[in-house]
Amino acid sequence: MFKAGILKYAVIGIGRMGTIHAHNLYKGRVASSKLVAVCDISSDALASFAKKHPTVKCYSSHEELLDNCNFDVVIIAVPHYQHLKIAESFIIAGKNVIIEKPITVELKDALAFCELRKKYPKSRVAIVYNQRTNSVYMRAKALIESGKLGEIRRASYIITNWYRSDAYYANNSWRASYCGEGGGILLNQCVHQLDILTHLLGMPINIDSRISTVNRHITTENDVTAIMEYKNGAFCTLSASGHEQYGTCRLEIAGDKGRIVAHNYKMTFYAYAKSEPELNSETIKGYGSVKKKIKHYRYGYIRLLKDSLYGQQMRIIDNFTKHILKGENLIADSEEGLKALEIINGIYLSAWCSEKIVVPIDNDLYSRMLEDKREIEKNSFAER
Ligand SMILES: NC(=O)c1ccc[n+]([C@@H]2O[C@H](COP(=O)([O-])OP(=O)(O)OC[C@H]3O[C@@H](n4cnc5c(N)ncnc54)[C@H](O)[C@@H]3O)[C@@H](O)[C@H]2O)c1
Repeated sequence: MFKAGILKYAVIGIGRMGTIHAHNLYKGRVASSKLVAVCDISSDALASFAKKHPTVKCYSSHEELLDNCNFDVVIIAVPHYQHLKIAESFIIAGKNVIIEKPITVELKDALAFCELRKKYPKSRVAIVYNQRTNSVYMRAKALIESGKLGEIRRASYIITNWYRSDAYYANNSWRASYCGEGGGILLNQCVHQLDILTHLLGMPINIDSRISTVNRHITTENDVTAIMEYKNGAFCTLSASGHEQYGTCRLEIAGDKGRIVAHNYKMTFYAYAKSEPELNSETIKGYGSVKKKIKHYRYGYIRLLKDSLYGQQMRIIDNFTKHILKGENLIADSEEGLKALEIINGIYLSAWCSEKIVVPIDNDLYSRMLEDKREIEKNSFAER
């Protein structure tokens, strides 16, 4: 039993994201949860954290944290390649684990991790897919599940609001390299939207894509175009970039009974009086339309304010604590982490092979091609 119904948290990696998690916990912003320790391999990061959070224990390796500290949950917020190796040691030790997105770089490793997890069912695992707490996407999911959109015929996602300059990449050498993080905008930033896509529409059956690097000194992509086909013949087009100013985040999903257009923090739902097959079978005109009702949804002012101050990520931690203490359903467990990763690996594979690929993807081919990318990158760095 957890003492006095409070979960003790530790955070590994107190860089950009880990510090936000740790600070929210330290400030008591997550009910029934408190921060007891942080861990980072950088002594500078630890020193700067300790200065502002004097009651928190600091450790310089995850092994040291595991051996010396009494805690219930660990949040892993280090570069992606290391997520699962660290997570494994904590699960084996019976700890509960929250893993930052993406779960890892290669689907193959994530599948092996999910298999290992089954041997340690008492350890709970969640992935920080915080966009699932975006109230607009929650409404979209409820509308789709209620059948109000009818059969999904088309989707399109434009994600151009992840502007990242060369200075961003230069600040942290692991970013946007095959050796450091295993991918670019797709893996680091768009993983959020690709998770939402799988959450709303499920998995595609095949993927065709192109990727490129526009005006940045990085080896991975910052521009992506993909077409995904679903089992019922519907298509989703995806355009993503990290080099456009005043970019947008716009998701449009069209069904035969209705359509949603989610744009930044708002969504419009168009509900048709009759489905399109009904309209088509009844109309004697060459053109036609039926009456429609329009409903507008907003993120919610207070929710938006709270999320912009402390982050949606706090809701994921809150959900995890409630899951452990009260049995609340997890927003995203480790199996959920697989889906967006498979689409991401699939988009890369299609672009690298210049051909349409089927889902489930060929994991061995993916591993070989990623290894080639890392080798080319190492050689190009050595030549500089
Ligand atoms: N959910 C979100 O919205 C969100 C936002 C940003 C980053 N992230 C994720 O968080 C993770 C970290 O990203 P970031 O932007 O904070 O990176 P960062 O580079 O700012 O911080 C990473 C920290 O981890 C430390 N570290 C590296 N290896 C370590 C190890 N073995 N043990 C302990 N500490 C170690 C580094 O010293 C650094 O302080 C990534 O996986 C990223 O995708 C998620």
